[in-house]
Amino acid sequence: MSNPASQHFALIPAAGVGARLGSSLPKQYMPLAGKPMLQYALDTFAASSAIAHTFVVVSAADGYIDDFLATQPQLTGKITVLRHGGASRQESVRNGLHAVRAEVGDDDWVLVHDAARPGLNDALLDKLIAALQGDAVGGLLALPVVDTLKRSAGRTADPRVRDTIPRDHLWAAQTPQMFRYALLQHALDQAQEHGRVSEITDDASAIEMLGLMPKLVEGSPRNFKVTLAQDVALAELFLQGQE
Ligand code: CTP
Ligand code: MG
Repeated sequence: MSNPASQHFALIPAAGVGARLGSSLPKQYMPLAGKPMLQYALDTFAASSAIAHTFVVVSAADGYIDDFLATQPQLTGKITVLRHGGASRQESVRNGLHAVRAEVGDDDWVLVHDAARPGLNDALLDKLIAALQGDAVGGLLALPVVDTLKRSAGRTADPRVRDTIPRDHLWAAQTPQMFRYALLQHALDQAQEHGRVSEITDDASAIEMLGLMPKLVEGSPRNFKVTLAQDVALAELFLQGQE
């Protein structure tokens, strides 16, 4: 049931190292069009009147976050840093949810958003929140797959097509992924309890394991995840001149 008094909180897992991107800094701190990658998501959430507060999960050993926030007075009072990063994204999310137990109500919405998606903007955020108002399950931003999908015969130096996967009804998941606090916590706990954590690659997949069907809300190419070195130039194209 929807609760009109529900608030919206953002939870940003930012405890990765960015191994695939291979920069000297953890990728969330890497400069993109003049600003650290993490700043884009933090500024978007902090500026949104729909978001009550933002939590960012970093690793216990993170040596950058304090210096970074010291230079960002516009974020003061709007962001809480949780030094509870785990070994995987899902562990970081689970630890973060646990850490905010006292501050977030069971029916409040949590929008989990990758620090590595700097292209989220206010329009996409508002679209997701509006689409899920009163929803019993929750949902996520995602993009319908447009390319023809080929599966290779295996990981080899000379990959060859084994078959083609019909792309009908396929969507590529993005973030934010938005679920009510208690439901998401329960879903992640259940996956852990049943030894299925390795099958969870995003927040929605834990919800799906409960037999529920998260809503798909069409996102945007600009909200792609910066993963490889070659993604940096594309991200900068989207981000340049946005403010
Ligand atoms: N993340 C996290 N805790 C981890 C691993 C990842 O909070 N143990 C976060 C990342 O900081 C990122 C998001 O989850 O914001 C998505 O992960 P990904 O793009 O895979 O980032 P990394 O894990 O840092 O990159 P890589 O997999 O290339 O090492
Ligand atoms: Mg990763």
